[in-house]
Amino acid sequence: MRFSENLIAWYNISKRDLPWRNTKDPYKIWLSEIILQQTKVSQGMPYYLKFLKNFPNILDLANSEEDKVLKLWQGLGYYSRARNLHFTAKYIRDNYNGVFPNNYNDILSLKGVGVYTAAAISSFAFNLSYPVVDGNVIRVLSRVFGVESEFDTGPGFQKFYNIALEMLPKHDYATHNQAIMEFGALLCKPKLPLCSNCCFNENCFALHANKVGVLPRKKKKIKIKNRFIHYLIINNKDKVFLRKKNEGIWSGLYQFPFLEFDKNISNDKVLISNNWINLFKNCEYTISSVSSPFIHKLTHQKLSVIFWQIKSDDIKLKNFMKFQTNKISDLPLSKLIDNYLTSNYII
Ligand code: ADE
Repeated sequence: MRFSENLIAWYNISKRDLPWRNTKDPYKIWLSEIILQQTKVSQGMPYYLKFLKNFPNILDLANSEEDKVLKLWQGLGYYSRARNLHFTAKYIRDNYNGVFPNNYNDILSLKGVGVYTAAAISSFAFNLSYPVVDGNVIRVLSRVFGVESEFDTGPGFQKFYNIALEMLPKHDYATHNQAIMEFGALLCKPKLPLCSNCCFNENCFALHANKVGVLPRKKKKIKIKNRFIHYLIINNKDKVFLRKKNEGIWSGLYQFPFLEFDKNISNDKVLISNNWINLFKNCEYTISSVSSPFIHKLTHQKLSVIFWQIKSDDIKLKNFMKFQTNKISDLPLSKLIDNYLTSNYII
């Protein structure tokens, strides 16, 4: 069915004008691909422009403070992407003289760069013949060619990879790869794909087998963990305690001390819990406000968070730094904490 020719013909008429498509600069392409992992174009675009404004080249990024990189990333989630971006910029500065590597294996060995991203950079920046296989591509291939394998298993993924490789054209790998992703994003969408406008609708397996809604197939169902968190905003002589996390999903971001429970317990029970008593033993404190729960959904977690504003002039907390309240918003924070702070005055 001349897959690539049809795809590229569609792309040339229907593509969006996106800034990272008008460049061969591997730095800009890498930046765009890291931002667009798990992120929609409309959400990622302002971050891409903001990063390039602050860090026009890889050395500007490498020479920045991590806090500045994370602050610019704030709100985009999956913060390991930003930490790896910064690490890799420094690595390229120190090991490649600041010049982005130009072959697949070196690109793949960079921290934060997996098989998909290495193929994207290799093809878009250097027109090397590697196929991109992301969620969009898997959806297109599984529907058009009737691939029923579960894509989140090793053999299943390999099957998709092999077909993607077979479909590459003879020369223009960059355009083909952009085209197949764009086709998945705009036409062969997860819900309500535009089959009646599709250039493959005469031959599409899923359309004829009435399987558009069930392909592609996935093995794992996501398990959501419920967490119950109480952030303590403790004012100590007009300063507030925060700590830069160095583990977990929000590693690198600053957060208040917190208590966590595995059940949803009442605020009265929190006050008599061992955790609370240990934290405040031998000190005087007053509670000035307690928020309603904030619900924050992540891919694998649902957080229910209550913010307590507390005043205590004699509390001492090891491993925490103290900040003036008007300086907190300069720090990289989770969207959850930032949302609370922008809608609430801190004592
Ligand atoms: N998603 C991931 N990479 C992309 C790209 N280069 N263009 C549009 N969407 C994308």
